[in-house]
Amino acid sequence: MSNFKRLYVEALLAANWVAPDWQLLEKTKEGGWLLERHSMTERLKACCRTLTVEVLGLHEVGKEVLSNNERELLGDQACLVREVVLSGDDTPWLCARTLVPMSTLTEREQDIADLGAVPLGQRVFNQANARRDAIEVAHLVCDGQALLARRSRLWVNDKPMLVSELFLPHAPIYQEEG
Ligand code: PHB
Repeated sequence: MSNFKRLYVEALLAANWVAPDWQLLEKTKEGGWLLERHSMTERLKACCRTLTVEVLGLHEVGKEVLSNNERELLGDQACLVREVVLSGDDTPWLCARTLVPMSTLTEREQDIADLGAVPLGQRVFNQANARRDAIEVAHLVCDGQALLARRSRLWVNDKPMLVSELFLPHAPIYQEEG
C-alpha cells in the first residue's frame, strides 16, 4: 500500500467520532453527504463516469481488538476488516474501512467477504431490508489538510457492520457543485 493510502487508513483509525448536530448539518452541502442514509456508492457514481474500488486490505481481527464503542455498535465479535479506496475517474475520492462481524458473514451474507472490487454499497443496498443508523462524523487533519469523515452502521438482514469513510481532498463533497 502506498504511504498516502496507509496515512488515510491510520487517520480513520484515530478519528474522534461525534454525534452530528443534524439540524445544523442538514442545511449544509457537506451535511448532504455526511448524513446520506442510502448508498454512498450511488452518490459518488452520479459524480463521475467510472467509479473504481481498490482493495487495500482484507484481514480478520479478534474481538479483543475492538474498542468499547465498536463493541457497543457491533457486539463482542471477531470481525473481517475491509479497507478500500474509491476513485472517481481515477481520482481517489474516499477511503473506507469496514468492520464486518463474523456473525454477519453467514447465510446469504457470506459473499460480503469476497466482494473484491464490487463496492460494498452496491451489494448491501441491493437488498430491500438494508438500512443505516448511528451516523457520526469527524474532522481530521491528514497531511496538513482538514478532511471530513463519517462512521455509520449498516444493517443487512438485521445483521450489522460498521463503515468508516474519509473524504479525500478531491472528493465531490468539497466541490462547489458537489
Ligand atoms: C467498500 O467497497 O468497501 C465501500 C464502498 C463504498 C463506501 C464504503 C465502502 O462508501
